[in-house]
Amino acid sequence: MGTIQLKTSIPGPKSRALVERQEAAVPRGLSHATPVYVARAQETWIEDVDGNRFLDFAGGIGSVNTGHRNPQVIRAIAAQLEAHLHTCAQVTPYENYVRLAERLNHITPGKHPKKTLLVNTGAEAVENAIKIARAHTGRAGVIAFEDAFHGRTLLTLGLTSKTHPYKAGFGPFASEIYRIPYAYCYRCSYSLSYPSCDVLCARHLEDTFRRVVASEDIAAVIAEPVLGEGGFIVPPPEFFRILIDICHQHGVLFIADEVQSGFGRTGKMFACEHYHVEPDIVVTAKSLGGGLPLAAVTGRAEIMDAPGPGGLGGTFAGNPLSCAAANAVIDTFEQGKLLARANAIGEHFERRAKKWEGQFQAIGEVRGLGAMRALELVKSRQSREPAPEDTKAVTRFCYEHGLITITAGTYDNVIRLLVPLVASNEQIEEGLDVLENALASVCGQSAFSETAAK
Ligand SMILES: Cc1ncc(COP(=O)(O)O)c(C=O)c1O
Repeated sequence: MGTIQLKTSIPGPKSRALVERQEAAVPRGLSHATPVYVARAQETWIEDVDGNRFLDFAGGIGSVNTGHRNPQVIRAIAAQLEAHLHTCAQVTPYENYVRLAERLNHITPGKHPKKTLLVNTGAEAVENAIKIARAHTGRAGVIAFEDAFHGRTLLTLGLTSKTHPYKAGFGPFASEIYRIPYAYCYRCSYSLSYPSCDVLCARHLEDTFRRVVASEDIAAVIAEPVLGEGGFIVPPPEFFRILIDICHQHGVLFIADEVQSGFGRTGKMFACEHYHVEPDIVVTAKSLGGGLPLAAVTGRAEIMDAPGPGGLGGTFAGNPLSCAAANAVIDTFEQGKLLARANAIGEHFERRAKKWEGQFQAIGEVRGLGAMRALELVKSRQSREPAPEDTKAVTRFCYEHGLITITAGTYDNVIRLLVPLVASNEQIEEGLDVLENALASVCGQSAFSETAAK
């Protein structure tokens, strides 16, 4: 028997009742991708309040790479519960925080001396990374990318690219934020092709310093090593090398936002390792906490020490339960085979998805790194016109048939894989069967002739 077990139509009656209560009690701004309310979750499955069991390919938006309720994480949380809860690291500190900082300093890219600040969320970590970069350089400006996502607080919204639903109506945003195109080769902003483009989008930073903003006014360039909400876009291997070289020639820091791509998602601990680059500051969150809220800013020691005592912190930042969970997450990666598993899952997805490319002309591109994989759906391969309605219909078919998936992309036309890395081959196959049925149902069997012409 497979993992998926459905007993009612989806959503079931108890979930439907909860949708009504949520609509009355919670602002509509907090939308939910599936109208299914959780009762329990373990490893790769979620059981809803109606007793239906779903396979989870969304993993709390990539926050449970080690699996729901990973036993090592649960044991560490339980032990911490017996010892103490919040005391505030700024008042009476505790070893768990220091140990986690030491370990993050050790495992993030680069052998240089580092220091780590712990906070609660990805957005809070990005905010702090910018504060620290400003304090270190004495410069105010930040350069971010088109299609980037860095959070929903007011500074991070300024860094985030997508207008609807994230930014529209929430301005004004912080000043001194500039934006340049990312290496989204499928929709190149310069209408060029790789490799003949010579990675113009990275080299364009020099031009930006000449035509848009002086480099001596820029504290940092911030980028996701693989775009997350932007649609799982993987830049060419030399993109970050070129970009970081230009940054350093101008005394500009490079901040890697590994909130979604980190902690094994791409088959390496951090996606930057694929490109052999060492960011000045790395921001992590999501799967760092193994299911508890936690985020970190890790950077070169001299940069991290720029803000004076009291310049950084937060009441709950680095709370003991989350630190215990994160230390167990790192143990799991150190002891286990999760990175190899991420690569195996990614290859499994790629094999099936490449076959689908021959079946469904709606598939514009199959892409990703490790287990950070995605399908970009289009109305036609010639026009590359995004297909957001079909994408939504595919995810709906999926949850109605027991598979939880989420979308991404500036054009809402990407289906992304964020399955916990503890998923078995059978579970991946079972989930991909549902996804294939969804594609067949929504996009239909398609023109092989066009595929052959591709
Ligand atoms: C790359 C990236 N940065 C920052 C964030 C914001 O993290 P949080 O939602 O924990 O504030 C996200 C969230 O999806 C993200 O994907």
